[in-house]
Amino acid sequence: MERVEKFLKDAGTYYLATVDGDQPRVRPFGTAHIFEGKLYIQTGKVKDVSKQIHKNPKCEICAFMNGQWLRVAGELVEDDRLEAKQSMLDAYPSLQGMYKADDGNTEVFYLKNATATFSSFTSAPEVVKF
Ligand SMILES: Cc1cc2nc3c(=O)[nH]c(=O)nc-3n(C[C@H](O)[C@H](O)[C@H](O)COP(=O)(O)O)c2cc1C
Repeated sequence: MERVEKFLKDAGTYYLATVDGDQPRVRPFGTAHIFEGKLYIQTGKVKDVSKQIHKNPKCEICAFMNGQWLRVAGELVEDDRLEAKQSMLDAYPSLQGMYKADDGNTEVFYLKNATATFSSFTSAPEVVKF
């Protein structure tokens, strides 16, 4: 899981796919943070992405960096605890102008039943489950 977090942070931007009825939706994301042994992402309840996750928690993440790409398939579980949200905001001070842990909008989810696959054109895929 640490390797997945590091890859996402080093890549800077990853793409988060969600399910919207029968329509896939994808958008750039940047937050990735391990808290209490789980890998979290952050969003805002007002966003469509949040509404989609609440309806269907299945997601996939993709990032590319230096000839290697990472896909993480899994489910997102909301953690409504203030300490989980604050830990994310502490890890991303740049978010603190837009989000507060208790603003009623900030939301964090951790990945469950995740399968992460590191791939490249030059070596066999490596799979990590967490
Ligand atoms: C590089 C980059 C990183 C981003 N990271 C996040 C993020 O971690 N969380 C988030 O909610 N939005 C993030 N955004 C903004 C979302 O991509 C944007 O709000 C998007 O419209 C949300 O998807 P939706 O329109 O389907 O709700 C980021 C945007 C960019 C360009």
